[in-house]
Amino acid sequence: MSVGIRMEQLKDIKVELLRFMMSYKFALEEMMTKINILKQEFKYIHDYNPIEHVSSRLKSPESILSKIDRKGYDYNIDSIKENIRDIAGIRITCSYISDIYKISEMLQQQKDVTVIECKDYIKNPKPNGYQSLHLIVQIPIFMSDREDHVFVEIQIRTIAMDFWASLEHKIYYKYNKEIPQHMKDELKEAAITASQLDKKMEKLQREMNKLKESAKAEELYKNDDRILLPYDFLSLVK
Ligand code: GTP
Ligand code: MG
Repeated sequence: MSVGIRMEQLKDIKVELLRFMMSYKFALEEMMTKINILKQEFKYIHDYNPIEHVSSRLKSPESILSKIDRKGYDYNIDSIKENIRDIAGIRITCSYISDIYKISEMLQQQKDVTVIECKDYIKNPKPNGYQSLHLIVQIPIFMSDREDHVFVEIQIRTIAMDFWASLEHKIYYKYNKEIPQHMKDELKEAAITASQLDKKMEKLQREMNKLKESAKAEELYKNDDRILLPYDFLSLVK
């Protein structure tokens, strides 16, 4: 094969790879816009923000390759596209557990979002204690000459779940040997403590909402009195 043809092929592969990664970048941007709209609109209508924080990341080519190795997938674009569904990843941190399900529902209802998989590690935590709601969705991306359907992984969790997962990851990071059982037990206990904290905060928020509602109703009643009094007076003098 001549050097010219080889260079030509390499250039083709490079363009193909670039276009491949671009689809995921666009998918992230599209999902981030959707989440931002939900966040702003929800805050405007309900005067409250259910989302504390959103982050996104594109899986690096090194991580993609090591996942292919780890899982024994074929080394080609079609196989990567089909099997590695977390190249585009979004993490949403919510204030309360109920917000997680609200946000998940709002995203799942959107016409152009196809839900491929939903793993509820909140109702069924992982054996190590890990909790989060994981969605794999597929969204269409419209480009100059084609339409691509791209997978995006969305992890939705509370601040407490995120705190536990981030630190658990840091503790284990780059330690490839077996972890002592007592450490596993303690981490699991910490996950249970985090979950109890979430439940306690949720209960407090519900109670607070009830207090706010009755205060609002009382205020309305008072205002009603003021408006109704003249009418009552008029009906009396008629
Ligand atoms: P991957 O092959 O890693 O993508 O896992 P999977 O295909 O079994 O999917 P799963 O939905 O269980 O996990 C996907 C992602 O969730 C991981 O890449 C992590 O970001 C996160 N995750 C899952 N389990 C744990 C855990 O035990 N601890 C932490 N810190 N994160 C986790
Ligand atoms: Mg992953």
